[in-house]
Amino acid sequence: MKKEYILVLDYGSQYNQLIVRRIRELGVYAKLVHHNVDVEILKDDALLKGIILSGGPNSVYEEDAFTIDTAIFDLNVPILGICYGMQLICQKLGGEVIPGTVKEFGKTAIEVNTNSTLFKGTNEHQITWMSHTDKVIKIPDSYVKVAHSKNTEFVGIEDKDNKIFGIQFHPEVTHTEYGMRILQNFIDECKIKDTWKMENVVDELINNIREEVQGDRVLCALSGGVDSSVVAYLLAKAIGSNLTCVFVDHGLLRKNEAKQVIELFKSLNVEFILAEEQELFFKKLRGVCDPERKRKIIGATFIEVFDKISSGLDNIKFLAQGTIYADVIESGTKTAQTIKSHHNVGGLPANLQFKLIEPIRDLFKDEVRNLGRVLGMPEHIVNRQPFPGPGLAIRVLNDVTAEKVSLLQDVDEIVRNEIEKKDDKFNAWQYFAVLTGAKSVGVIGDMRNYGEVVAIRAVSSIDGMSADFCRIDYDALAHMATRIINEVPGVARVVYDITSKPPGTIEWE
Ligand code: XMP
Repeated sequence: MKKEYILVLDYGSQYNQLIVRRIRELGVYAKLVHHNVDVEILKDDALLKGIILSGGPNSVYEEDAFTIDTAIFDLNVPILGICYGMQLICQKLGGEVIPGTVKEFGKTAIEVNTNSTLFKGTNEHQITWMSHTDKVIKIPDSYVKVAHSKNTEFVGIEDKDNKIFGIQFHPEVTHTEYGMRILQNFIDECKIKDTWKMENVVDELINNIREEVQGDRVLCALSGGVDSSVVAYLLAKAIGSNLTCVFVDHGLLRKNEAKQVIELFKSLNVEFILAEEQELFFKKLRGVCDPERKRKIIGATFIEVFDKISSGLDNIKFLAQGTIYADVIESGTKTAQTIKSHHNVGGLPANLQFKLIEPIRDLFKDEVRNLGRVLGMPEHIVNRQPFPGPGLAIRVLNDVTAEKVSLLQDVDEIVRNEIEKKDDKFNAWQYFAVLTGAKSVGVIGDMRNYGEVVAIRAVSSIDGMSADFCRIDYDALAHMATRIINEVPGVARVVYDITSKPPGTIEWE
C-alpha cells in the first residue's frame, strides 16, 4: 500500500494487532512489523510518519529482553511507547525501570495534565486499562511527566521537542476511556495527509492489481468463504475478462451457499468454472469416521480436482489467494502469538506453476468485509460467519453421507435463522448445528419417533482461539428445538452444547 503510515513495532503484546486496527479506524494506514526492523530501510522511507512501540510481556531488564535500535529515536518522526514501549524509551534514553511489587492490572484511575500533547481534549481524571508490574522510576532528562496514578508516578511522559511520548496503559483497549482521543492526538503529531478509508483504498487495490498482472490471466479458486469471494469480486472489477474463477462444489457447504456463490459469480463478466464434484467427495469419504482422515481426504481431493482443472487452462500466469493481514502478521512477526493454523480446503498445491497474487494481504477481516460492501457484494456473503475448510464433514460425526449432510443443512438453517433474528445474535461469533451420530427415542403425536440427536452450538469468541458458549435464553432454545423436530424429519432430539474452549474446541471433530 503506497500511503503515508504509522509503523507499529511488535514487542509481543496480545493487543498489538488492535493498535494497528485502531489507527486504521481513525483513518490512517498502519502496519505491524517485528521489533527488530532494519532502521536503515526506515531512514529512506518517506511514507513513514510515526512509530508506535507496542507493549509486551517481557521486562526490559531481563537478559534477552526485546530491545530497540536507538537509531530509531533519530529518525525524526513522532514516537509513542505503550507500556513496555514506554519502559524501553526510558531505559534507553537515561531513565530507570524497576520490577514493581504490585501488578497494576485492569481498570485504573489516573490523573492527567490536559495541556499535554497526548491528553488534550480529555479529562483530568480518567479510567485506563493497565497491565504491568515493572515501572519507570526515573524519566530521561528532556522528558516531563504528564500523567500518574495512585501506585505509579510516571503513567504518561513526553518530550515535546523531539515528539517522543510514553504511556503506561493501553489506549487501544476499549476500557481506556479516552483511548481513541489519545491515539488521535498522537496521529495529529505525525502530520499525515493520506487517509485510510475503504472507499479510497478500493481504487488503489484495483490499480495495484492491474499494474501487477499487466494484462495476463489470473486464476482464482473460490471456497465460498468471505476472503476468496471478495478477492474474486475485486479481481473481476480490476481485470474482468482476464479472470477465471474456479469453484469446486464438494457438497459440504451450508444450505444454499454453493448456489449463492454460483449465482453471484455467474452474474459477473468473468469466466466461471463450476466443478460439481459432490459425488467424488462423498465417495472418498465413504465409511471414514476419523476426523483427521476426513480433513486429509477433503484437502487431497480438492487439490486433485483443482489440479485437473488448472492443467487444462492455458495462458494463466497468476493464482489469486485470499491471504489476509492476520495471516501475514502470523508468518511475518515472530513475536506475535501463533494462532492455530488449520488445513484449509482452499489451500492449493505448492507446485503449481503460477505467480501468486494476494490483493487483500494488507487488510484485516472486518476491512475485507467492508471492502466487499464497498464493491457492492450482497450482505449475506460479506457477513458470513467463519466456516471450516472441511465444511459440514466435521459436523457430521462418524461417517459422512449425502443424506446426513442434507439433514444437517436443514437443521443448521433453522439454527442460523433463529439466531440471526435477534439483533445482537446472542453475541455469537459462530453458530451452527451438529449431527452427533447418536440416536434417541422420542414421540410425535402418538407415534414412536426413533431418530437423530442434533446439537446446537453457538459460541462467542474473538479469533476462535478461545471461546465461550453463548447464554441463549431458554425460550429461544425451546423455539429452535420445536422448529427442528417439526420441520426436519429424522430428528428425534435436540441438545445445546455448553462446552467452552478450552477445554472443548468449537467444532466437534
Ligand atoms: P476449533 O474447532 O479448533 O476451531 O476450536 C477454531 C476455528 O477454526 C475453524 N476451523 C477450521 N477452519 N479449516 C479451516 O479453515 C479447518 O480445518 C478448520 N477446523 C476448524 C472453526 O470453524 C473455528 O472457527
